[in-house]
Amino acid sequence: KLKISIIGSGSTYTPELIEGIIKRKNVLPVSELVFMDIDARKLDIVGQLCKRMIEAEQLPCRITMTQDLDEALRDADFVLGQIRVGKLPARVLDEKIPLKYNLIGQETCGIGGFFKAMRTIPAMLHIAERMKELCPDAWLINFSNPAGIITEALLNHSEVKMLGLCNVPFNMFKSIREALDLDHPEFTYVGLNHLSWITSIRQDGKDYLEAALEMGLNSEAMKNIPSSGFSKELIQTVGAIPSSYLEYYYFKNKKLKFVQESELTRGEKCIQIEEELLQIYADSKLHTKPELLSTRGGANYSEVAISLVDAIYNDKQEVHVVNLLNHGALDFMEDNDAIEVCAIVGKDGAKPIGIENFDNRHIIDYMRMVKAYERETVAAAVSGSEDAAMRALVMNPLVGDYDAAHSCFQELKQAHKAYLPQF
Ligand code: G6P
Ligand code: MN
Ligand code: MN
Repeated sequence: KLKISIIGSGSTYTPELIEGIIKRKNVLPVSELVFMDIDARKLDIVGQLCKRMIEAEQLPCRITMTQDLDEALRDADFVLGQIRVGKLPARVLDEKIPLKYNLIGQETCGIGGFFKAMRTIPAMLHIAERMKELCPDAWLINFSNPAGIITEALLNHSEVKMLGLCNVPFNMFKSIREALDLDHPEFTYVGLNHLSWITSIRQDGKDYLEAALEMGLNSEAMKNIPSSGFSKELIQTVGAIPSSYLEYYYFKNKKLKFVQESELTRGEKCIQIEEELLQIYADSKLHTKPELLSTRGGANYSEVAISLVDAIYNDKQEVHVVNLLNHGALDFMEDNDAIEVCAIVGKDGAKPIGIENFDNRHIIDYMRMVKAYERETVAAAVSGSEDAAMRALVMNPLVGDYDAAHSCFQELKQAHKAYLPQF
């Protein structure tokens, strides 16, 4: 028996996951799939398409759709978390309100991401709590953003077995492999979620990082980030290949100007794409994932998620990049800091691969600074302490200024109050 429950299944990304499950049907004998969402309309439209996809492949898999969390969790083996508390309109507030204070409005970085964490952490802790009773041995694989901070919260404040996921590392590896024409490179990937770098690229004993720095090699930008790319000079200064999310940090002013001048925020664009997708999905003749979905930023996330389930279920002992607790893998981070690194994955979960003698001081210091922000963010989310919230925000390199942080915090708190039980 293999029961997978998708929490937040009304997401228009869900057909991606189903595609991943279909692709691995020979190694992952899924016997039951549960779609759970609190939004009845999306639960139905997305769920029906997924059902048609499964039926077209004749998978012997029972399908349930429910709005009830407990029903979804009962006896699950894997719980996939992909919730968006307050849905896309809440994201738009995270993106728009900060602009009034000259702060970047982005859904995972800066003060927008902070409020997404405030909304999501209580909801995810509740899911973890229910899992303890209904499926204590299940794995929670979470991609709800901000994925790194959610990992930090759950692994330090609940007993759930969980791993945090993001598609950025997979896409970085893929684009570098293609650009350098390497067929089986090994990467050193280090960082926090949405704050990461590649610091070595090796194949057959040869290191290609120098060559990559020499070229000023960028990794592919995500679809959701209006990317200007990093110059060769910047890449050489850093001594590593940054993920495209670092553009928010290294090009803070340029990014702020860009979002201030954009007619629509990314979230508003996503609302349009989502509506269009739902109309396409509602066509009962459709039983594949439509091309339009690839205009969202989540490319390859199903591959990342389902290959991880495969690695755990089939005890593959293979390398995946995941968010998990450090436990000594990086000697410059605390044991209970959630980090995003390569890990060996098998039936007992993931073990981070240590990086010895890591000496990129810039990366060490940047990670520690942003981790200080993340730690206080989790403290604020679980305690409702506004002091912790302010200490978090002044540590965030995209916020910093106390007055701006304070006013913007108050306005966002008011705007999101229906979803902030802690404040
Ligand atoms: C990337 C990130 C995800 C994020 C997504 C947003 O894939 O890794 O964490 O959710 O982009 O894409 P969107 O289309 O929603 O802007
Ligand atoms: Mn991500
Ligand atoms: Mn070889």
